[in-house]
Amino acid sequence: MKKIVIAIDGYSACGKSTTAREVASILGYRYVDSGAMYRAVTLYFLDHHIALTNPKEISRALSQIHLSFHINKHGLNELFMNGINVEKSIRKMRISENVSPVSVLKEVRSAMVEQQRKFGKDKGIVMDGRDIGTVVFPNAELKLFLTADIQVRAFRRQQELLERDKLVDLNTIMANLTARDRIDSQRKESPLVKAADAIEINTTHITLDEQVDETVRLALWKMITKKG
Ligand code: DC
Repeated sequence: MKKIVIAIDGYSACGKSTTAREVASILGYRYVDSGAMYRAVTLYFLDHHIALTNPKEISRALSQIHLSFHINKHGLNELFMNGINVEKSIRKMRISENVSPVSVLKEVRSAMVEQQRKFGKDKGIVMDGRDIGTVVFPNAELKLFLTADIQVRAFRRQQELLERDKLVDLNTIMANLTARDRIDSQRKESPLVKAADAIEINTTHITLDEQVDETVRLALWKMITKKG
């Protein structure tokens, strides 16, 4: 069967990453969490006190950042920055609270998009993010746009943090998600919008298994009917 590109976009905490990871594993595809890349850049910028108003400093910092994904012994994809596993550090609230202002920067976006396109050059990839179907892979064979009610999203994110032994109250999470949605949708560079040809899935009342099944079903259909 022909390999395709699957782009999954949507608001924060709609289950994009979990769906993308599962679908990639079922199809034997590569999974790339593009949000993790913006989170890693944010970690680097915070640790190195990069001024977000200084384009030269930003470009210099970006040239020092090397990102790669590696599969761990549990089969999970983990992000390494300059050879160091940053998977845990990038999931902290400190990063969630600072990632949107970093990901609005033009220099940051073009560096990440270039790298993401390299990851997808041989197809057979599932990538999730905000601009994957609109900017990174406008010709992706399958584009999904996930949505869900804010309370459900906040609760799911709280459970995820709890699994990492972090108890964060729902109001804090909800405020963070709302702020990120606003910045992500209103920014000038590649705002979060549904691609005209994306299929919208509201995940409020469906389970993760249902989300995954539906995505795999759509992907198989695209693979079977793909020409060329
Ligand atoms: O998917 P996530 O919540 O881990 O993403 C973190 C942030 O990164 C999100 O608030 C916006 C930014 N992001 C982006 O601007 N473009 C992407 N393709 C993915 C994420």
